[in-house]
This record gives sequence, structure tokens and C-alpha cells, in this order.
Amino acid sequence: MDSILVTGNGPLSGQIPIAGAKNACLTLMPATLLSDEPLTLINAPRLSDIRTMSELLRSLGAEVTSLQGGQVLALSSHDITSRTADYDIVRKMRASILVLGPLLARYGEAVVSLPGGCAIGARPVDLHLKALEAMGAELELKDGYVHAAAPGGLRGGTIDFDFASVGATENALMAATLAKGTTVISNAAREPEIVDLARCLRAMGAQISGEGTSEITIDGVDRLGGATHTVVTDRIELGTYMLAPAICGGEVELLGGRIELVEAFCEKLDAAGISVSETASGLTVTRRSDVIQAVNVTTEPFPGFPTDLQAQMMALLCTAEGTSVLEEKIFENRFMHAPELMRMGAEIDVQGGTATVTGVSRLKGAPVMATDLRASVSLILAGLAAEGETRVSRVYHLDRGYEHVVSKLSGVGASIERISDT
Ligand code: UD1
Repeated sequence: MDSILVTGNGPLSGQIPIAGAKNACLTLMPATLLSDEPLTLINAPRLSDIRTMSELLRSLGAEVTSLQGGQVLALSSHDITSRTADYDIVRKMRASILVLGPLLARYGEAVVSLPGGCAIGARPVDLHLKALEAMGAELELKDGYVHAAAPGGLRGGTIDFDFASVGATENALMAATLAKGTTVISNAAREPEIVDLARCLRAMGAQISGEGTSEITIDGVDRLGGATHTVVTDRIELGTYMLAPAICGGEVELLGGRIELVEAFCEKLDAAGISVSETASGLTVTRRSDVIQAVNVTTEPFPGFPTDLQAQMMALLCTAEGTSVLEEKIFENRFMHAPELMRMGAEIDVQGGTATVTGVSRLKGAPVMATDLRASVSLILAGLAAEGETRVSRVYHLDRGYEHVVSKLSGVGASIERISDT
């Protein structure tokens, strides 16, 4: 298994290009199942999660062709041969559940393996299922699979989510585009990835309004056509790399970055003493002084502080002056990076969903283990600021969500390399 070797190397300078959003692409790809005409996605990130979704769609009979080194995906669901998403693929990635709504909407039936839990929590899919039931789907859970049927087709319904789940909103939104009549999704998730999905579906001919607010209205249409769509910038990759100059000093421009994607995050950076300014081609990040100030962070659905940036923010706060309190409100087990950061000399006390970080003057390099995607990159960021060498193992987690991490960081002067263990 490969590992990443990072050595603290002082201030960074230069530019980092930000890729298209993994989480947007993972919901845009299943949208192909809604139409028999081609869907082309531009600005796709080159990641193992995208390859897993390609594998899943191909197993259903869709064509997925990767062009321009993977930055363009040409998808076609003209000849769907199977309506079953098999456990062997679904278990690799929870986002696989996003084929359920589209398959059911277009074919009136779908069998999708339950994704099960994952390292950061139980992550049930009850909200996805309730939404589809509200559109008339008949569901049965059997042998670890959801068997869904809508023999006469889905019909518009009223969906009121108890929690603004991103994935459940996406599944409901896709399914509703082909349902008969009007669907209203209340307490819908407002993430930029949902707005991006709605834009793409609209380009395919869907009738949608209200995306980006808590209430989305969809008037079902008989069929959807093809489209060419550019994937929105990855706000989590953006926020992650914004933290590199925040942690190491220097000045880095994040190409393609936009404030509105990371506003709540920028507010916390500002309170910590980090300046973010807009440029013609992105965002520039610098530190206002050598001292980082402690700040308190609570993760929330968008537009709040994203859970997917909590681990990376913790890496910054490990060397802040004072005590920071981080509250994780989205996932119940998302502090697995804390004990690894403590191996590097961080002072962190985790009690349930709250982590209290007491800043230390410097972290020290150590061998550490990546436990999930965002945890893995937080350890790399911590390694950039640490004295000596940090070896991050189990980097397959990283490959799920960060393309070219070594070249992007070494391009701004970081000392980082990937080591292949034979
Ligand atoms: C998406 C993102 C993930 C991000 C998360 C929250 C993708 C591919 N992944 O995940 O990176 O961390 O949003 O911003 O887009 N829940 C239920 N029942 C459900 C669905 C969710 O209880 O049916 C719970 C989950 O267990 C979790 C919380 O709701 O505690 C948030 O989940 P959700 O918003 O659905 O996240 P995902 O779509 O899985």
C-alpha cells in the first residue's frame, strides 16, 4: 500500500488549480439513467470514486467513456440491460444509492444493495426511501437489497425531510423529474452540488425551481433529453488547499475558487487570522501574522461550515494560540483524525461530538494512518506544518477524493512525495 511522505518546509507560494466537484459528479453521472440521449460532463475530477461510479453504471448497461485524460465523461444510457446495483460495487461507495431514484423513475423498477455503514458513521438511507415512497414507490428490503417498484410510474408527491440530507434530496430530485405531476421537496439540502444537479437536469429538459433554497418544486415531464454540463468547482478541495498557506504561511492562489462556495469557512479563516481575497481567476490566501487565533467551529448543512472541512480545519487549529472547540453535528463518528494528530503532538480532547483543541507551538512529524478521505488530507496538512517527517499510510482513502495531491502541493513548494510499498 502506498504512503505519502511530507516534511515541513516553510512558506508556500504559487497557484493550485481546483478540480470539478467529486460530490457533484457522483450525482450528475447517475442522471444519465434518466434519458436515452447522451450526457457529457466537462470538468470531471480524476478520482477512484468516479471510476467506481463508472463501474456501477457500466454494470447496468450504460456506456461511460472517459475523454481528455478523464476530464470529460461521455455517458449514455441508451441500452440499459440491468436494474440491479450489486453489493460488490455499492459497498465500495455510499453514493451508489444515487442510481435508485433515476432507475425507478425511468424503468419503474430498481434493485439496489443497501450501502451499509462506513467509518464516519452509520449513515442510513431511510430518508431516500421515504422520499421515493412519497412518490408512490413500493419498497421492500430483502437480503440486504432495496427492491423498489412503481408499476404505473412515479407520481408527484410532497416530501418533507426531517433532516436536509444531501443524497436524499438528490435522489428525490432526479426521481421527480420523470414523475407524473408536481413534487415539492421541503427542508431540501441547499448544497452547491444540488444546485449543479438541478442546472444539469434543467438542461436535459426538467422543470425545476427553488434549488439552492429549502423548497424545491419539480414538475414532472414525460422524457428528458441529452445535455453537456460543466461540473461545479469542488468547494471541499478548494477549502482544503486554502488551508495549506494558512498553515505554512506564504501566498497561494486557488484557481477556479469562488467565495460563495466557501463563505462560512472563510468567516472562520478570517477569525483565525487568515485573509482571503478574490482575484480574476480565483482566490488568494495569506496569513495576517505568524500567530493563528483559536476559533470555535460547528459543522452544519450548507450554507453552514461543511463537515467535509472539519478535519482539515482541526489541523490548522492544532497550532493556534488558545483553545478551539469543534462541534460535529452531521456525522456521529468523525473525529478519527484526532488521535492521529495527537501522535504528532496535538492536544485534543474528544467527548462525543465535541473536540477541544488546545494549540501547541509546533507539531512534530510522525507515522500516522489515514482513516477516511478528509482525515487523510488533514494529516497531510498537519505534516506540512510539522517539524520533521510525517508518513501518512492508507492513502487509498485520499485517492477517492483528491486528484494529483502530490503535484498540486509540491507545485507551490511543499516537500511531499508518494512512496510505493512493494
Ligand atoms: C454527502 C457528501 C458527503 C458529505 C455529506 C454532508 C456526497 C457523495 N457525499 O453525503 O461528502 O459529508 O453530504 O455534507 O455527496 N442520514 C440519515 N438518513 C438518510 C440519509 C442521511 O439519517 O437517509 C444522515 C447521515 O447518516 C448523516 C447525515 O444524515 O448523519 C448527513 O447525510 P447526508 O446529507 O445524506 O450525506 P450524504 O449524501 O451521504
